[in-house]
Amino acid sequence: MRTTYCGLVSETLMGETVTLMGWAHRRRDHGGVIFIDLRDREGLVQIVCDPDRPEMFKTAEGVRNEFCLKVVGKVRPRPAGTENANLVSGKIEVLCHELEVLNPSVTPPFQLDDENLSETVRLTHRVLDLRRPQMQQNLKLRYRVAMEVRKFLDANGFIDIETPMLTKSTPEGARDYLVPSRVHDGYFFALPQSPQLFKQLLMVAGFDRYYQITKCFRDEDLRADRQPEFTQIDIETSFLSEEEIRAMFEGMIRSVFKNAIGVELPVYPVMTYADAMYKYGSDKPDLRVKLEFTDVTDVMKDVDFKVFSTPATTKGGRVVALRVPGGAEMSRGEIDGYTEFVKIYGAKGLAWVKVNDVAKGRDGLQSPIVKNLHDAAIAQTLARTGACNGDLIFFGADKAKVVNDAIGALRVKVGHSEFGRSHGLFEDKWAPLWVVDFPMFEYDEEEDRWNACHHPFTSPKDGHEELMSTDPAACVAKAYDMVLNGWELGGGSIRIHRAEVQAKVFEALKISPEEQRIKFGFLLDALQYGAPPHGGLAFGLDRLITLMTKAESIRDVIAFPKTQRAQCLLTGAPSMVDEKQLRELHIRLRNVQPAA
Ligand code: AMO
Ligand code: AMP
Repeated sequence: MRTTYCGLVSETLMGETVTLMGWAHRRRDHGGVIFIDLRDREGLVQIVCDPDRPEMFKTAEGVRNEFCLKVVGKVRPRPAGTENANLVSGKIEVLCHELEVLNPSVTPPFQLDDENLSETVRLTHRVLDLRRPQMQQNLKLRYRVAMEVRKFLDANGFIDIETPMLTKSTPEGARDYLVPSRVHDGYFFALPQSPQLFKQLLMVAGFDRYYQITKCFRDEDLRADRQPEFTQIDIETSFLSEEEIRAMFEGMIRSVFKNAIGVELPVYPVMTYADAMYKYGSDKPDLRVKLEFTDVTDVMKDVDFKVFSTPATTKGGRVVALRVPGGAEMSRGEIDGYTEFVKIYGAKGLAWVKVNDVAKGRDGLQSPIVKNLHDAAIAQTLARTGACNGDLIFFGADKAKVVNDAIGALRVKVGHSEFGRSHGLFEDKWAPLWVVDFPMFEYDEEEDRWNACHHPFTSPKDGHEELMSTDPAACVAKAYDMVLNGWELGGGSIRIHRAEVQAKVFEALKISPEEQRIKFGFLLDALQYGAPPHGGLAFGLDRLITLMTKAESIRDVIAFPKTQRAQCLLTGAPSMVDEKQLRELHIRLRNVQPAA
């Protein structure tokens, strides 16, 4: 039997005989003495193999990287000067008495401590990749966090109830993954985009406080913070107000940070969606970046510069300035780089003004556009932005969405850059907040219709019910997001608990009564049996762990993730299936190209 983990052997075991099992991380032959770094999930320990035990030494000579070994040996101090302060076991080594190869390994395709592996290599050889200490730490933290969440929720009377994976579509705004039914020819299950409808039904059923740490499936375009299957900490409660729900779950995340990584989060500021868009152009502002928008739409209405005056005088247009303190020292090359960057977000250009001497007004500025701006516009811009000598002011002018997306992304890009960090525009801290008062609906120009901003079960603010039909754009929802360091960590809402209000929302979304019955009849029926007022939220566990570990991608905190192209490189999923299986499922493929 193993007596302890490799990574836990420390000076407290000095002089004792230990039995260890693990993998050969590295073997170094120092002519006469062989050192093996033996690794397990808790870390490394140095094993010393002396030739005075010839049989053991012979075995040690045959050991290669990633062999699985059993070692029996005595803990002794490392010789002075060879200690390693980075390891728990850094002050000791184990003098090997017995060495057994439990299983040899073929030569691994990479060194485990190679920091420059491509993600393709890592995901293809995921098993070996997962042996890397960083990955082991990430997944251990993930477990720790899930435990802390369960502890908190259990202590607060929440009960874990499972909901189906083979179900009906839940509209969360993504495409469904479908599963064909063999039994019912031509019928399909949808994998849940979230347990949303079931958790509401559980409230109607009287469970009062529900939670689940569960998989959700969304067939959407993937990004660094998205996976097609991901894990939610999903929560619903009855009889709590929006404020009470926010307070409780701010408390949960605070306790998780404290207990899992010893971080004391600050009290969350609460910002309305409108304020967030106005100041940061984003509903998930990264508050570590100390730059803010200055709206100058009103002062640009009558300037000669059409690039500014057209959006300033058009409904839905916006002109903003982004003052970058110290930015005047940026080179043309850097500014050109940012001009290219904002184009990704649909911006047609990026006007700028360097403020050399603010006291001189127009003459103290350097810019390709000031000649087109009248004195009042210049004076107002300088005053409102609080411009100082040495600053750079960027401008975005377009439809509000384009300006918000482009200058919002620019704000983050500049803040995170070398320049931003060295000029105090970025503060390395934890910056959580609540964003509240989301709009109920967003307009889909392509389809010429209103969509639910959160999901269609979200309640309008009290007094906003009528607006759903008279002025959907002005209708505000009881919806809230928790944002951390510029990531949407979680979101939720107070739900509609009356069938007639739910029907009104469906009406505003142009979902016909027939469609309502087919898609959500079971919910509308349930709401008629004394449904309690209820609400909840869901956190993205993968995102939470990505932030806590400061991992580069969400894929680094998931044992077996999918690529950006929604493939599993380890198993080769998705893959083609037998004709027989397809026939059983009543499916005939059309024009299928073999997978790339
Ligand atoms: P929402 O769609 O905002 O809300 O999802 C909740 C949280 O889940 C995480 N998340 C994702 N994480 C990784 N990959 C994805 N593709 C992905 N999509 C979402 C985010 C997000 O904040 N039913 C509602 C919640 C509610 O109203 O209670 C819902 O699913 O961190
Ligand atoms: P132009 O008149 O197109 O040569 O543009 C003059 C300056 O305005 C250039 O610096 C452009 O990058 C910038 N510019 C053009 N379109 C926009 C826009 N929509 N928002 C902000 N700046 C712009």
